[in-house]
Amino acid sequence: MIHTSSTMCTPTVTEVPRHIAIIMDGNGRWAESRRLPRVSGHVKGLETVKIITKSCTMRNIKFLTLFAFSPENWRRPIDEVSFLMRLFISALEREIAHLYTNNIRLRVVGDLSMFEPRIQDLVQNAEAKTASNTGLILTIAANYGGRWDILQATRKIAQQCVDDNSIQSVNESNFSQYLAMAYAPEPDLFIRTGGEQRVSNFLLWQLAYTEFYFTGVFWPEFNDMELGKAIASYCGRERRFGRTGEQLTRKSQNIDALLC
Ligand code: FPP
Repeated sequence: MIHTSSTMCTPTVTEVPRHIAIIMDGNGRWAESRRLPRVSGHVKGLETVKIITKSCTMRNIKFLTLFAFSPENWRRPIDEVSFLMRLFISALEREIAHLYTNNIRLRVVGDLSMFEPRIQDLVQNAEAKTASNTGLILTIAANYGGRWDILQATRKIAQQCVDDNSIQSVNESNFSQYLAMAYAPEPDLFIRTGGEQRVSNFLLWQLAYTEFYFTGVFWPEFNDMELGKAIASYCGRERRFGRTGEQLTRKSQNIDALLC
């Protein structure tokens, strides 16, 4: 199913967010605050990934998208980068059966050509194995950047123009079909843990109308209760999508009247 941009049509606002996107920040600082090596923060962070995936399943969230590795992360010390790669490999090897039996579909987005062939094969197998699962769609953004995504979409459009020998009419509604996450609606709720308040080149196109939630809690300490706080904050927001608050009240009153 193709989901159009919220900037062009007002999407349905559901009680629980349909799609939650998270920047999992604070692994290193969590470890350093305990005088542990930074990488042990990533190990603990992987445990949190499992906890939050389960929480989202229990809470009937349809899409969970996690920012695991950005193109900028290659600039980290080589030991930390190779540790993260090994952790990714072991997570793909160990967790896939668990994802499968829990009806979770795994997708990985990003420029995977930079990863070693073993990782690329594991990703392909994991996506294929869970492709028919109908529950939570868990997306891992790996070597993903919002600018990379917009650029690769633009290249696809340019190629299509060349192939069709015609000028493709591209607009805000259909542009998202070319993005790496064309299969998902735009995130309703964006969470960043670890205290920083920025988007860091995550889903740049898709976050246009997303509700933001920042918490100082480090990712390894984030849990179901913290997720509940973020969702409660989201539920208290008024998503106007450019309309006035009064228009929204009138709309819901009209719906109430129809239901009476
Ligand atoms: C940010 O914390 C976290 C990362 C760059 C890596 C995220 C990885 C995991 C949560 C574990 C592996 C996950 C998967 C899906 C295999 P940071 O290191 O930037 O923390 P800091 O800001 O405190 O230094």
